[in-house]
Amino acid sequence: MTDIKALNEVARAIVAPGKGILAADESSGTIKKRFDSIGVESTEENRRDYREMLFRADVADYISGVILYDETIRQQAADGSRLVEVLERRGIIPGIKVDLGAKPLALADEDETVTEGLDGLRERLAEYQELGAKFAKWRATYTITDTLPSPYAIDVNAHALARYAALCQENGIVPIVEPEVLMDGTHTIERADDVTASVLHELFDALFDQRVAFEGVLLKPNMVLPGYDGQQRVSDGVIAAKTVRCFRWVVPAAVPGIVFLSGGQSDEQATARLNAMNKLGPQPWELSFSYGRALQSAALKAWKGEAANLPAAQAAFGHRSRLNSAARSGAYKPEMEQAGAN
Ligand code: 13P
Repeated sequence: MTDIKALNEVARAIVAPGKGILAADESSGTIKKRFDSIGVESTEENRRDYREMLFRADVADYISGVILYDETIRQQAADGSRLVEVLERRGIIPGIKVDLGAKPLALADEDETVTEGLDGLRERLAEYQELGAKFAKWRATYTITDTLPSPYAIDVNAHALARYAALCQENGIVPIVEPEVLMDGTHTIERADDVTASVLHELFDALFDQRVAFEGVLLKPNMVLPGYDGQQRVSDGVIAAKTVRCFRWVVPAAVPGIVFLSGGQSDEQATARLNAMNKLGPQPWELSFSYGRALQSAALKAWKGEAANLPAAQAAFGHRSRLNSAARSGAYKPEMEQAGAN
């Protein structure tokens, strides 16, 4: 029998006040791109050194969980201890990315994707649980154009996300469901709002049909933003109000938390907009973060692949973690950007 109460406890610990998630689950291709940007070769040792730096940073007051990649959950720190144990010793909960990426959708009229990874997932989840994972992540992506996303893409991705979530709960792992409406394009915030609501509506319908307990799920969505390539400029306050209103329409109150992705926003924007949402007052769910780039980019630049830069990189990561922690309660102020390493 699935222990919903135990799943709910893990989910609530992940979105405990002042805390959020570090997404460090970049696939081999994505981490190579990040390392290319600082001129560092993506070797297994460099990836280990970089991630060990993040995991040993003094951030346990701000970071409740870390999403790992398959390589990392099996990897040892330089001193031979497992990286998972490095996190556990700090009281940080290890999680694991389990999807196998977004692949072209068969018979689609235009370029769209469906996320793969369901075959053998039950067995993989059982192994990840043995390795220490308490939660998992599966990401679906949706492109906005005048005609996309198609109802077909919304439907199949919702179905796959729900199948993944059900398998996670069966294995005692909290599923983070990540339907990411991509913000590339020239669309307005109103269109992003409509598409995000449709995607979430379909997702929660599929989760309900597949018997997933909402108390034991976390949602990792995009914020509602205008397309990055368009002309529309909107304030953080408007983004916050539209995003919260959209979620109040379609996300059940039983879901313990919404942990936003940063999705290419600047570090400061990702923090300021989360802060603006939390300033709107109490919501049915916690509003937190599960940032990849917006927590790591300053640290990556400070590190540059040099052991001598580890303290500066940890300071940069600690600084962003602290500011996002403040944004959990609406206590972030732009002046705080100056108060530490950047
Ligand atoms: P970003 O915050 O960089 O969008 O990454 C979060 C994530 O885990 C995407 O799947």
